[in-house]
Amino acid sequence: MEYQSGFGNEFASEAVAGALPVGQNSPQKVPFGLYAEQLSGSAFTAPRGHNRRSWVYRLRPSAAHRAFESMPGGTLCSGPFADPATPNRLRWSPLSIPAEPTDFLAGLFTLGGNGSPAQAAGTAVHLYVANRSMDAAFFNSDGELVIVPQLGRLRIVTELGVLEIAPGEIAVLPRGVRVRVVLLDGEARGYVGENYGAPFRLPELGPIGSNGLANPRDFLAPVAAFEDLDTPTRLVQKFQGALWQTTLEHSPFDVVAWHGNYTPYKYDLARFNTINTVSFDHPDPSIFTVLTSPSDTPGTANCDFVIFPPRWMVAEGTFRPPWFHRNIMSELMGLVRGAYDAKAEGFVPGGASLHNCMNAHGPDRASYDKAVAADLAPYKLTDTLAFMFETRWVISPTRAAMASPALQPDYDAAWASFAKAQLP
Ligand SMILES: [Fe+2]
Repeated sequence: MEYQSGFGNEFASEAVAGALPVGQNSPQKVPFGLYAEQLSGSAFTAPRGHNRRSWVYRLRPSAAHRAFESMPGGTLCSGPFADPATPNRLRWSPLSIPAEPTDFLAGLFTLGGNGSPAQAAGTAVHLYVANRSMDAAFFNSDGELVIVPQLGRLRIVTELGVLEIAPGEIAVLPRGVRVRVVLLDGEARGYVGENYGAPFRLPELGPIGSNGLANPRDFLAPVAAFEDLDTPTRLVQKFQGALWQTTLEHSPFDVVAWHGNYTPYKYDLARFNTINTVSFDHPDPSIFTVLTSPSDTPGTANCDFVIFPPRWMVAEGTFRPPWFHRNIMSELMGLVRGAYDAKAEGFVPGGASLHNCMNAHGPDRASYDKAVAADLAPYKLTDTLAFMFETRWVISPTRAAMASPALQPDYDAAWASFAKAQLP
């Protein structure tokens, strides 16, 4: 696959030589009679550093469609989340790959979320399972999507070109961009973070300096690619939490050339340059932030996407796994591969856990016992890739997530058998 490197760069690409206008965004006559269309991912007047828009040049204007009609949403839910929040710590086993034909869109199962698309704030977290490729095209008017595959590679056809991702990589699909998800391995499972708020950006680096964490050049945008197909195509959108559909007489992936900085992109999590202690005591997990969606309170994210990748453990005299903690932010975790260093069992690839605002969690008994007895020589934590969506608002699990057979019945037992400390 061919990609363009950089985060939020002003990219330019044409699938047919001469299709991209030069020097003008909307000339009176676009080459080949293509239609010029601006896709705005930020308010027109957003500060230049946060302004996101792309110009696309397509075979037909995307406005040419009949009315959308309402359709059932299945197990895909959106904020405002009407189901009550719970302070209880929750953990889910992986969802099984269904027996019946299920594409990426039909296979979305919402675990929970907060905020609301109507307020342009909040987050939802979905799981997906699929065993067939999508025929329809889909776009989400409610927010951008972060796709975290756990099983099976995906080819994501978008208006701006094609991305392919495998477990260990992520794709970010901007609000409004039409996509079709194709399965490359027959079966697929993973996670989707949906961000109703400000688009994800790279975190500030502060005293770390100008390098480290996720480096901009490792983010990859597609190059222009299009389908010249006059075959009926169902187009589905999620709008204010509900699914709507219409049928086009052609493929919506008909953008021949484009330029701009509002693009889908992919990122290989193995490129993340982990920063951690080289003395004692590990820093807060914010050092593992890949992408952040800020809220209007500085440093208090609408949503952070955080990973716990393979890394060297070298701290002296410290408890190396995550400590026991209670956090004002709410945490929803998943596991792509291997084991997470705070859980000996029960938290497995494809599963998820939820630790809401101020509710205590940390290592289970087996992980704790192992950590306090460990010889603290340097060693490399391998075969692990956990991640977290961390958000300032409490995550309400959906009724379906609470009723799912994948919900583990006694997660609290992970912390049930700690002995009382013995005073002298
Ligand atoms: Fe935590």
